Amino acid sequence: MAFPPAFLDELRFRVRLTDVVGRKVKLTRAGKEMRGCCPFHNEKTPSFYVNEEKGFYHCFGCGAHGDVIRFLTENEGMPFMEAIKQLADEAGMDVPQETPEQRQRAEHAASLYEVMDRAAAWFEAQLSGLQGGRAREYLAKRGLGRETIKGFRLGFSPPSKTALKAALMASGIAEQQLVEAGLLIKVDDKESYDRFRNRVMFPINDHKGRVIAFGGRILDDGQPKYLNSPDTPLFDKGRQLYNFDKAAAPARKQGQLFVVEGYMDVIGLAQAGITTAVAPLGTALTEDQIKLLWRLVPEPVLCFDGDSAGTRAALRGALRALPVLEPGKSLRFITLPEGEDPDSLVRKKGSSAFIGLVDQARNLIDQLWQAEVSGQDLSTPERRALLQSRLLEIARTVGNPTVKRLYETELQTRFDALFGRQFSQKRTLPGKRATLPTGKGAITASQSLATDQGYEAMVHALLLTAIRHPALLDQGLDILAHLPVALAETSAVRDAILDTAAENHQQISSFEAETGLDTAAIETTLNKRGLLETVRLWGERDRLRLTFSKPQTSLEQAERSFIIIGAWLIQLTAIETDLKMLTAELTSHEQPDSEMEAILDRRLHLLHERQRIKTEMGDYARGSSEA
Ligand code: UTP
Ligand code: MN
Repeated sequence: MAFPPAFLDELRFRVRLTDVVGRKVKLTRAGKEMRGCCPFHNEKTPSFYVNEEKGFYHCFGCGAHGDVIRFLTENEGMPFMEAIKQLADEAGMDVPQETPEQRQRAEHAASLYEVMDRAAAWFEAQLSGLQGGRAREYLAKRGLGRETIKGFRLGFSPPSKTALKAALMASGIAEQQLVEAGLLIKVDDKESYDRFRNRVMFPINDHKGRVIAFGGRILDDGQPKYLNSPDTPLFDKGRQLYNFDKAAAPARKQGQLFVVEGYMDVIGLAQAGITTAVAPLGTALTEDQIKLLWRLVPEPVLCFDGDSAGTRAALRGALRALPVLEPGKSLRFITLPEGEDPDSLVRKKGSSAFIGLVDQARNLIDQLWQAEVSGQDLSTPERRALLQSRLLEIARTVGNPTVKRLYETELQTRFDALFGRQFSQKRTLPGKRATLPTGKGAITASQSLATDQGYEAMVHALLLTAIRHPALLDQGLDILAHLPVALAETSAVRDAILDTAAENHQQISSFEAETGLDTAAIETTLNKRGLLETVRLWGERDRLRLTFSKPQTSLEQAERSFIIIGAWLIQLTAIETDLKMLTAELTSHEQPDSEMEAILDRRLHLLHERQRIKTEMGDYARGSSEA
């Protein structure tokens, strides 16, 4: 059957292509895209790219090309109907069906949208009508202008149990539909009555701008302050965000998106000119909602109150994101001054006060670190051990293996640095990346790594690549900072590049930084530090003869190789650290048998993982070395 284009659109919108493809193909990040070995033809070096934003995959080797539906039908050989069913299932959507009941249900849902829209229009009319005086005063007192009220379709439900019911039924809508839309409350055989009474009404839209629910704020001091629609066939509060429809375009364009707590915060910000805010619907942020945010920007900013409830909510939000984190996707956090919410802040001090906070937004990992460490008495080994195991636990809840490894390394490095076991030198860059750990904390593990001489040579190749293609540091700066280096000389060269990057760092917007580096600038620093000759020798003795480090290689190729190999090296370091820890556990204590088994299991897993990465890395290096 032919499905309505809107249905297929929504299906493609809700299901992530990289999730579906990722089950068949191991994907790694390559710039804005993900890539892996093409599942449509046989290959060793990946030329298959998945572009989530555009919603398609493309193979430069064999020309395979398509969207998520095509992937299932062509790669997995699923019949079209079955592919649609599976995807709809994943998206939590109903497949429009041809059976009479189901067609009826689809029509019914369509008419529920109509009901909601009519209700919204009726509430709007009440706000501007005779009974709306107090509500209009209230909104004016809160600083909302006519345009804002119209733009958000704010309305008013009068203090009557039957006004909406009577008005909409008179226009031909059945009572049953009003109940189903959540507008009337019906208990057993009793008369149904209006759910929303004497409240300012906030229509809640889906991503296409259709009204699917309402929030109602009481005019007086009664309880509850906000009343929301119940879940209905149109409304699932864990999967929607208030104002997602209007915020989407400006958020994509500006690369910024704020998550605030309440409807009034969204509206207050919009009134102050900040149109890129959304809010959850009276519950804590869900994983689904976090994924929705990532469709618009890679690092949405969560705003919380400075009080203890706000702090707890921020921690909950941070922990909730860990299982769904992906390379390049994260959250940032801002804390509002005590007693303020975004709405009250911009009303008192203007939008610049809010934007000023955004510049100080904390990264997810800093937020977690602070929550775990600040205000703790860590004066005994036992307390520190507890902290360490909590940090490890946090890192383990990260779902994505690459990100997980890096979290483990980073938290361990910070932990070590905190107790002065190792030195972690902080480096200050202006703007977003306030501090960059240099990766020296990982020195113990990288020393054992580098006894394997091949790895140090690999690091040299990466450093050469960075010097010859400095623009790759726009993407690769974090990798560079965390590369495991063992020899003092290697470390000095790396530091010279980082320092030059720090000096040239330019903030383009709150999400993009450009290092603005060129080879000459790095060479100047190297020369000043007497390292130019060292680097020249590396180039001359380059045993690996990798094509990507050569000056004539394309930037794209150099960048990809740098990121892929760099991430592998960092992962290997993390694995070495873990293996060391496990070995220490195995040899130093008497463990109960059950724990022993778990440790051995984990150890075996790490050994396999190490082997896998080494093999992959070897293949990759051979694939890109000059014959
Ligand atoms: P707040 O109590 O912080 O409200 O609740 P607010 O947004 O600052 O409201 P104003 O400024 O007093 O009008 C934050 C959000 O929590 C949900 C609503 O989504 C609200 O916007 N909430 C709050 C409810 O769903 N029910 C309630 O009873 C209270
Ligand atoms: Mn408020």
